[in-house]
Amino acid sequence: MSLPEITTRPAGVHVHPARAVVDLGAITDNVGVLRAAAPRAEVMAVVKADAYGHGLLPVARAALDGGATWLGVAQLAEALELRAGLDAGAGGPAAASDGAAAPAHPPILSWIFAPGAPLGRALEADIDLSASAPWAVAEIAAAARATGRTARVHLEVDTGMGRGGARPEAFNELVAAAAAAQAEGTVDVVGVWSHLACADEPENPATGRQVEVFTAALAQAERGGLRPRVRHLAASAGTLFHPATHFDLVRPGIAVYGLSPAPAVASSAALGLRPAMTLEARLVVVKAAPAGTPLSYGHTAVTTTDTHLGVVPLGYGDGIPRAASGLGPVTVAGRRYHVAGRVCMDQVILDLGPESTDVAVGDTAVLFGDGRDGTPTADDWAAVVGTINYEIVTRLGARVPRVHVPAGREDA
Ligand SMILES: Cc1ncc(COP(=O)(O)O)c(C=O)c1O
Repeated sequence: MSLPEITTRPAGVHVHPARAVVDLGAITDNVGVLRAAAPRAEVMAVVKADAYGHGLLPVARAALDGGATWLGVAQLAEALELRAGLDAGAGGPAAASDGAAAPAHPPILSWIFAPGAPLGRALEADIDLSASAPWAVAEIAAAARATGRTARVHLEVDTGMGRGGARPEAFNELVAAAAAAQAEGTVDVVGVWSHLACADEPENPATGRQVEVFTAALAQAERGGLRPRVRHLAASAGTLFHPATHFDLVRPGIAVYGLSPAPAVASSAALGLRPAMTLEARLVVVKAAPAGTPLSYGHTAVTTTDTHLGVVPLGYGDGIPRAASGLGPVTVAGRRYHVAGRVCMDQVILDLGPESTDVAVGDTAVLFGDGRDGTPTADDWAAVVGTINYEIVTRLGARVPRVHVPAGREDA
C-alpha cells in the first residue's frame, strides 16, 4: 500500500518500521450499520482511550461523518482534548459522505471525575457531565456558579453493573439533588443513563432486569420533576442484540471500530462491520538458520528444520501481549505464521520455514487486520491470549504510529 494523505501520531511514521493503519471509511460505514440497527435512537460514538487505540480526533470526525450525533469519553482530560481538537478543525475532513456537513461542535459526554476535578473547564468547553451521587451534583453546580454557565448533566443509575451510578434505592436522593440544582438554574438535567453488564450474552436475563430497573428510574426522575430528553442504556451489544435497550441514544464503542462485541455470538462480518485497524510492520531481519536453533529469551522455542527466521519490530513495549509468546498469528506474503518463542519488548521472531526463500528483509508482516485475504484478526489474537478484542486494539502503545486512511482511499 502506498501512503495516501494521512494524519498520524507520533510524527515518526516515515522512519518507524511498524504502523497501525486505520481505515476511516470503515469507521464511517460502521456507524451507518449501528444507525440502521437502532433507527429510532441517536448514536453516541464512544471514543475513550484514544478511540480504543485508533486515534481520537480522526476517528471522532469519521464517526460524525457517518452520522453519529454525540461523542462519549470516560475521562475529563479526553473530553477537553476532543473538544479542543474538534474546535480547531483537527483530525481530518468533516464533510459527511452524503455531502452534508457533519456537526463541528457535537455534544460530548464525559462520565468519570473525582472530587475536586476542574469542572469549570469542562463547562467552558461545553462538555456534558455525568453525576452518580449528590456530591457530584454539588460540585457541578458549584462549577456552574463559578463560570456562569448552566451545566448539562446526565444522572447515572446503577441498574445492575455495580460500577458507576446511584443504586436504585439511592436514586431518589440523586434526583432530588439534581432537581434542586435545576431549580436554582445551575444545572439542566438532559439525561438519565445506565450501562449493561451482560448484553454480549443475548440469552442472559440480566439485560431484561436492567431494562426494568432503568424504566423504574426514569419514572422516579419524572416524579421528581425532571424531564430528561436523552435516556441511554445500550453500548455495542445492546445496540446490536437488544432493541428494547435503545431508548433515545445508543453508545457503541467496539462496533464503531468494526469489531464484534461478542465474536462467539456473531462475527464482525455477520454483523456487517469492518475492522478498521491493520497492525503491520516491516521485517527488519531475515536470515537462514539451521535446525536446532534456539529462539528468543529463555529458548522456549527451537527450530525443528533448517529454516529462515524473520524479525518483526513490534513487542510488548508496543502493546503486543507477552502472553502471545509462541502463539500470536502473523502473515507475511499471504502465508500464516505464529510468533516463535517469547515476545520481547521491541521485537518478535517468526520461523518462516525452509521454503520461504522469497521473503526478504523489508517485507510487510501483518499481525491483524480485517481478516480478508487470510490475515489474522484482533479476535484471533484475543483468542490465543485469552482476552477480548477490545484489549488487543486498545492496548496498542503510543510508540506505534497511527496512519489514518481517509474514506474512499482504502485501496490507495
Ligand atoms: C459507559 C459506557 N458506555 C459505552 C461503552 C461502549 O462499550 P462497547 O465498546 O461495548 O460498545 C463503554 C465502554 O466500555 C462504557 O463504559
